[in-house]
Amino acid sequence: MNHLIAPSILAADFGNLQRDIEMLNQSEADWIHVDIMDGLFVPNISFGFPVLKSVAKIAEKPLDVHLMIVDPDRYIKQFAEGGAHGITVHYEACTHLHRTVQGIKEAGCKAGVALNPHTPVNLLSEIIADLDMVLIMSVNPGFGGQKFIHNTYRKIAQLKELAAKENPDLLIEIDGGVDQFNVNNLISVGANVLVAGNTVFSAADPLHMIRTLKNPL
Ligand code: DX5
Ligand code: ZN
Repeated sequence: MNHLIAPSILAADFGNLQRDIEMLNQSEADWIHVDIMDGLFVPNISFGFPVLKSVAKIAEKPLDVHLMIVDPDRYIKQFAEGGAHGITVHYEACTHLHRTVQGIKEAGCKAGVALNPHTPVNLLSEIIADLDMVLIMSVNPGFGGQKFIHNTYRKIAQLKELAAKENPDLLIEIDGGVDQFNVNNLISVGANVLVAGNTVFSAADPLHMIRTLKNPL
């Protein structure tokens, strides 16, 4: 499949959020990545339901909601009602991951699980068949604009191998430090959804940057 581009609005200008969402609507972006941080699972707080709902009203692309929060079961329904198309929870934040994944599907959303850089891919072997997507963190979650961790390539290859056996339709999303220089390599090892925050929103021409990420040379 052709890879998907999911710009992260964590790097948008919150004073001009409507303008930035409208830019994404006009762009070749496939999804809009929405980072929710609770100040507990990660050492940062981003934004919550009122912002998500406002974004959902304007956005013309699916909202890919990445929950960096402890015990996400408490809020799955609210995120689904707030306009999430897909909900991704962290492996490290869920004691009963199977229940959480079923809850996401029951709420009518696509279900994803995210792995921190230190979390091995094979821990997903018993749940991978139930997932729509796995998100591999290529930085430590919490902040945009960090340096890409090279070991991610190995994890993508391992995940691809596991998915080939258990769930060939699985989407493999990479989040953190994605740019126009590593996008080709990431796709060639098996990534098919690429999140990009700073690369898009710090670019002189974000529309052009999204086009470059979507159609790498
Ligand atoms: C990090 C977030 C990412 C972040 C990516 O915790 O999950 O989605 O916005 O930002 P960049 O692309 O700037 O590394
Ligand atoms: Zn994210």
